[in-house]
Amino acid sequence: MGLSVVILAAGHGTRMKSEVPKVLHTIAGRPMLWHVINAAKKCGPTQVCVVYGHGGEKVKTSITDMVVKWAHQEKRLGTGHAVQQALPHINKNDQVLILYGDVPMISQETLMRLRERTPEGAIGWLTAHVPDPDGFGRIIRDSDNNPVEIIESKDATDLQKTINEINTGICLVPAKYLKQWLPGLKSHNSQKEIYLTDIFSLAVQNGVSIVTVSPVELIDVQGVNDKIQQSQLERAYQLRIANLLMEQGATILSPERLDVRGYVHIKNDVTIDINVLFEGEVKLGSHCYIGPNVVIKNSTIGNNTHIRANSIVEDSVIGDDCVVGPFARIRPGSKLNKQAKVGNFVELKNAHIGVGSKINHLSYVGDAKLGKNVNIGAGTITCNYDGANKHLTSISDDVFVGSNTALIAPLKIAKGATVGAGSVINKNIAANKLVIARAKQILISGWKRPKKKSKSK
Ligand code: UD1
Ligand code: CA
Repeated sequence: MGLSVVILAAGHGTRMKSEVPKVLHTIAGRPMLWHVINAAKKCGPTQVCVVYGHGGEKVKTSITDMVVKWAHQEKRLGTGHAVQQALPHINKNDQVLILYGDVPMISQETLMRLRERTPEGAIGWLTAHVPDPDGFGRIIRDSDNNPVEIIESKDATDLQKTINEINTGICLVPAKYLKQWLPGLKSHNSQKEIYLTDIFSLAVQNGVSIVTVSPVELIDVQGVNDKIQQSQLERAYQLRIANLLMEQGATILSPERLDVRGYVHIKNDVTIDINVLFEGEVKLGSHCYIGPNVVIKNSTIGNNTHIRANSIVEDSVIGDDCVVGPFARIRPGSKLNKQAKVGNFVELKNAHIGVGSKINHLSYVGDAKLGKNVNIGAGTITCNYDGANKHLTSISDDVFVGSNTALIAPLKIAKGATVGAGSVINKNIAANKLVIARAKQILISGWKRPKKKSKSK
C-alpha cells in the first residue's frame, strides 16, 4: 500500500495572539509546519497534502524547499471537514497518515511504530496517557478494553472526563474508508463541527479493526497553542539535537545553552562551550573548540581550530589549526587558510587569509587577498569602498603592515614589503621595499608648555 500524508494546518491559533498564522510560528528557526512536512517526508510517502486556510498564501509561500500539494479549506468546519478537502488528491488505494501542522516534534520513530503496528487494511490510532487530559478527545474502551469511540472533551460526561487516555489526533487510515465515511459525517455535537474522530466508532460498527499505538516520547505528540508551549517545545527540540551531537561524540558543556537552527555536522572530539548558536549548515572539524557566546552560520571550521569567545562567523571557511577571536567577526565570503590567526575586534569581509598570516587586533580587512605569513598590525583598515564601488586589496607573502595603517584600495603590496606604522597607502608597493606615508616627526626646541594663571585672592 502506498502512503499519502495529510497535514491539517488550517487552524487560527487565536491563543498565539499574533498576526502570523499558527503553523508559521517557528521551532529552531523554521515554521512548525516545515518540521511536520520534514517528518512526513522521512516516511517516504507518495505525496504530502497540506490543508491550509487561515493565513492562505503566507502559509503556502513559507514552504519553498519541499514539494507538497495544497488543499484549501475555506471554512473551518472541523477536522473531518479538513481531511475531506484533501481527499481529491489522494489515491484510493493508499494508506493515509494524518498529521497536525501544530504538532512539530512528531518523530520518525513514532510514525514508524504507528505504521509497523497497524496491520494492512486496519486503522492505526496514536493515543497517549497524559496526567492532564483536559481539552483532549478521550478514548472510550468497552469492558474487554477494546477502543470503541472518541469523545471530545466538550461532549464528554464527568465520568468520561476522568479518562486520561487521549486522542493525539494522529492516525493512519486506509483512503477507501475516508472516502466512504467522511462525506456522511454530521456536526451533531456541542461544537457544531465535523469531527474526524467520528470515524472511530464508524470503523467499530463496520468491523474494521483499530489498533491504538502510543508515541515513543510524549513530546512527539505535544501541540502548540500558545507562546509558552512553543517555548517549551523549542527547548525540547534543542535538547534533542544536543543529545544527538553528544551521541556522535561532541563534548557540550551545557546542552541547555546550545541552539541549533539548521544542521551541524561534526567530526571527532569537538568541544562546544556555553551559549553557542549554530545556524544553517555548519561543519565542525575534529578537535575543534567553539568558545562561549559564539555564533556560526553556514560555515566550515577546520580541524584543531579554536573559535574563541564572542566571535561571529558567517558564510565562511576557516581552515585547520586556526585561531579566531575572542570578539572577532568573520563576515561572508571569508576564507582562512591553515594556521591563520584573527584576533580580538577584527572584522573580515570577503577576505582570503593565507597560511600562517595574522591579523591580531582591531582591524577591518574587507575585499582582500593576503598571502602566506603576512602580519597585519593593530588598527589596520582596508579602505575598500569609495562610496560607490568596492575595490580589492592584494597583499603578497611575507608582507608586514605596521599598526594604524589605512590601505586605500585598489592596492597591491608585493612580496616582502614593509609598511611603516601610521601610513596612509594609496599606491602599489614593490617587493621587499619599506614604505612610510605619514607626516614626519618634528622636534621643536625652546618650546614651553603653557602654565595656569595663578588665581588672585
Ligand atoms: C482535536 C481532536 C481531539 C484531540 C486533539 C489533539 C477532533 C474532533 N478532535 O481537537 O480529539 O484530542 O485534536 O490536539 O478531531 N484543523 C483544520 N481545520 C479545521 C479544524 C482543525 O485544519 O476545520 C486543524 C487545526 O489547525 C489543528 C488540528 O486540525 O492543527 C486540530 O484542530 P483543533 O481545533 O486544535 O482540534 P481540537 O479541538 O484540539
Ligand atoms: Ca488543539
